[in-house]
Amino acid sequence: MLKGWGEMENSLEEREKELLAKIDPERLPGHVAIIMDGNGRWAKERGLPRSAGHRQGVETVREIVSCSHRLGIKVLTLFAFSTENWKRPAWEVNYLMSLPQQYLKKELPKLVEENVKVNLIGDPSRLPPPVQKAVNQGLEATRNNTGMVLNFALNYGSRMEIVRAVQGLLADIQEGRHKGPVTEEVFSRYLFTAGLPDPDLLIRTSGEYRLSNFLLWQLAYSELWFTRTYWPDFNRCHLLQAVYDYQQRERRFGKI
Ligand code: IPE
Ligand code: IPE
Ligand code: MG
Repeated sequence: MLKGWGEMENSLEEREKELLAKIDPERLPGHVAIIMDGNGRWAKERGLPRSAGHRQGVETVREIVSCSHRLGIKVLTLFAFSTENWKRPAWEVNYLMSLPQQYLKKELPKLVEENVKVNLIGDPSRLPPPVQKAVNQGLEATRNNTGMVLNFALNYGSRMEIVRAVQGLLADIQEGRHKGPVTEEVFSRYLFTAGLPDPDLLIRTSGEYRLSNFLLWQLAYSELWFTRTYWPDFNRCHLLQAVYDYQQRERRFGKI
């Protein structure tokens, strides 16, 4: 039998309670990274324009940010726009570029109040000026917050990040700002994610099993969790399920 909306919300709440009771709050993944995928297919299945999928995807972002923060996740990284996504039709790129502003305009007061710190990884220089402005306002307004870091990957690509890191490091060596050996720790400081821990858990939605140029260096030892659910249908129970599954895994880091 098809359930009414009220009943669905009810069962979502029950499921949330069950999952929360099973999750060990002492062993949460400190950093969760998400490849939010499947907006276009979600819309297509409903006979809607792809933009409708992106719009619904923003609603999922709201829910997942709030759930992560309440759960006690320290860093949440969301892949919002890749360096490869510029290859999409101009109208879709423009639509995707309007979302950070839209999201921040509505959510920033709440993020400030909830002590969430907004952060950006990626190259901001190619973002349209209004997007740069909105993001900078977000960074500025939450600069002194000490709670969850909400890290948006915008115009982010891992290979671009690594090449830029090499260029930055070389320049510092040539100009005498860096002396001594180049270790993994030193190299990490030149990445966009400098100062952030590596993700413990990577989630990708929509049934794709690839990294799509996301955090190639940082995901070296992350636990990977995939779901066929499209991002607009992803909800807090999926996140809690991923966290629970993560806690069932044994992370060996090469040891026995
Ligand atoms: C994710 O959904 C949003 C971005 C990549 C920006 P898609 O737009 O990739 O949706 P699909 O994969 O085409 O269904
Ligand atoms: C990855 O999704 C990028 C983001 C989620 C922002 P894509 O939909 O662009 O990835 P591919 O093209 O299917 O690998
Ligand atoms: Mg996709």
